[in-house]
Amino acid sequence: MTAFHHPASLFRHTALNILIALLLGACGGGGGDTGTASGSTATLSASAALGEKIFKDPSLSASARLSCASCHDPAFAYAQPNTLAVPFGGIALSDPGFRNAPSLKYLQSNPAFFFASDGTPTGGFNRDGRANSLAEQARRPFLAPHEMANASPADVISRLSRASYAAEFRRAFGERIFDDPAAAFDRVTLALAQYQKEDPDFRPFDSKYDAFLAGKLRLSDAELRGLALFNSAGKGNCAACHTSAKGADGSPPLFTDFTYDNIGVPRNYAIPATADPAYFDLGLCGPDRLDLQNRSELCGAFKVPTLRNIAKTAPYFHNGRFATLREVVAFYVRRDTNPGEWYPLNADGSVNKFDDLPPALHANVNTSEAPYNRKPGEAPALSDAEIDDVVAFLNTLTDGFKP
Ligand code: HEC
Ligand code: HEC
Repeated sequence: MTAFHHPASLFRHTALNILIALLLGACGGGGGDTGTASGSTATLSASAALGEKIFKDPSLSASARLSCASCHDPAFAYAQPNTLAVPFGGIALSDPGFRNAPSLKYLQSNPAFFFASDGTPTGGFNRDGRANSLAEQARRPFLAPHEMANASPADVISRLSRASYAAEFRRAFGERIFDDPAAAFDRVTLALAQYQKEDPDFRPFDSKYDAFLAGKLRLSDAELRGLALFNSAGKGNCAACHTSAKGADGSPPLFTDFTYDNIGVPRNYAIPATADPAYFDLGLCGPDRLDLQNRSELCGAFKVPTLRNIAKTAPYFHNGRFATLREVVAFYVRRDTNPGEWYPLNADGSVNKFDDLPPALHANVNTSEAPYNRKPGEAPALSDAEIDDVVAFLNTLTDGFKP
């Protein structure tokens, strides 16, 4: 993680967020619970069971073809089920999005957004942390014009009142609930949050690496070498942000410390919005997130995502720039030693390093931590064979491992 020193903002956020974190924790599905049942056999509360139906119901979108599960497919760790950089939505499913859809697994202990005492931005939902809870997050896709494209919460509720489970919704939330669309929409978002917190399919902790941590099996030699390189501060240094060790209380690692970093991911011209040279996705400081726009030192920072199930969620990074894990790891270690491999050339033949940030913000990119603290001509932090080992280790993080 990187320290961002702006303690003033701490006071604005901490108290509220501790409260929200406590409230979230009280709703079940909290950190230490490592449930083992699989999704289909789990008993869900009435609210969570409705949440699952809503999650998988395309009739709640203006196209009648897009549900939450269309972009967060259970078969792909609840991430985008295709190799497109960004998903398409809208009335005719022809409107491109702006970011790659992330996995929804292992978010149960993702805290609400706050600044840590050293100024480090932490937590929040979405890649820029702009939603403070799963319920708050769930409002946006229903209404975003490039996603489910409903005109209003009332529009969503009018569709829901015609769904096969409308009677079940009334039984759970009151016979007159559809008369108050704002209240009904709140119940929809709470039900979606409850589903994601309760269904153990969102956090089975049954990867090969979990079996290894439980002492049930040995990793292969390549996987063990990869794990050591992943953890080593002078080599991959991946665990500095993607936590790989059990917590002090024995809780399994989530492969994220919920902080933010700017790692200078190259621009992805496959995203239609990039046709405008003035368009930049700056993560924490906008354009989607609006409250930190004047904090220029935060521009370009995105949330550290979990690496659990990473083998199933290509393409990678917020903009889906890389298709394979091998490319991602090679980018990490050769970004600074061989920048010409990753970034386009300027008219004068020089490398346009950090081409997805306006030049004034290039200094925000993390160049102080391994593996990206090198200079051109120096040896990369990992050799080709070591990259293969790290990738072998990353492949042990897929849920549903059968020995
Ligand atoms: C058209 C595709 C699409 C649809 C439909 C969609 N999402 Fe998403 N979802 C995304 C994208 C893209 C992001 C990342 C957004 C960002 O970072 O700004 C995201 C982010 C999220 C996150 C935040 C994950 C994190 O790591 O913080 C949650 C939770 C989520 N979606 C839940 C839902 C729910 C619930 C629904 C249905 C109501 C839904 N999504 C519908 C594309 C979609
Ligand atoms: C200083 C913090 C930091 C370190 C060190 C770090 N990462 Fe990351 N990692 C991030 C951030 C932040 C992102 C998200 C960036 C984005 O989306 O633009 C990320 C994203 C990723 C992704 C893509 C995840 C996805 O869902 O698309 C992979 C894979 C990954 N990292 C692997 C690694 C490996 C392997 C190492 C070690 C060689 C490593 N990381 C070191 C912060 C870090």
